[in-house]
Amino acid sequence: MKSKDIGKLRKSYEKKYIDDINIEKTPFDFFEKWFKDACKDKLIDEPNAMSLSTISSNGFPRTRVVLLKEFGIDGFIFYTNYNSRKGESIKLNSKVSLSFFWPSLERQILITGNAFKISDQKSEKYFNERPLGSRIGAIISPQSQIIPNRLFLEKKIKSFSENNIKRPNYWGGFIVKPSIFEFWQGRPNRLHDRIEYVLNENSEWINYRLAP
Ligand SMILES: Cc1cc2nc3c(=O)[nH]c(=O)nc-3n(C[C@H](O)[C@H](O)[C@H](O)COP(=O)(O)O)c2cc1C
Repeated sequence: MKSKDIGKLRKSYEKKYIDDINIEKTPFDFFEKWFKDACKDKLIDEPNAMSLSTISSNGFPRTRVVLLKEFGIDGFIFYTNYNSRKGESIKLNSKVSLSFFWPSLERQILITGNAFKISDQKSEKYFNERPLGSRIGAIISPQSQIIPNRLFLEKKIKSFSENNIKRPNYWGGFIVKPSIFEFWQGRPNRLHDRIEYVLNENSEWINYRLAP
């Protein structure tokens, strides 16, 4: 394929701004406010879709989308297969980052932190709330492993006995405990607003404005 010049694809961000005097005291309040806006926005299909980056054992970062299922001052929870590539990476290196991009609001949120497994009881509770098909899918799919073909999965589903629906110990939640947040609001002329929150030695959140 010939290289395509797409340098003219550009837009001006004009919708909103972050006022210095309106900066929330904690990044959790800020996140909650922006997350609510994203949930209200009809143009955003899955406001809880976020990119999760982990560091693989070969030193390369790897990013994929997962769904945020709970957030609060303790952290940000998503669910997955603990034996997946991301699960294996987190086992070796708990440092991760999360990122949300809501194009219609011209907003991005970046979060850096450490990921930890949540309790079995909590994973259990969430697993049992999931629709039947999702529970079976989580049980039968060896996430991130090479499989011979699509039929492999279809056969596994067919032979699956619905009496066996129990959360497998390889499936559950991770909580990301944040140490850095960045809130990014697109502005005209590439002079965007960027507010960073960092946790200091006294466990207080300090914020700064960063140059765009
Ligand atoms: C919108 C969207 C939501 C997703 N949500 C999840 C999720 O919550 N948990 C999950 O394990 N994978 C989810 N995935 C699939 C992951 O992106 C990824 O393919 C899978 O987790 C395997 O990643 P890994 O091999 O790097 O571990 C989602 C993908 C998309 C596009």
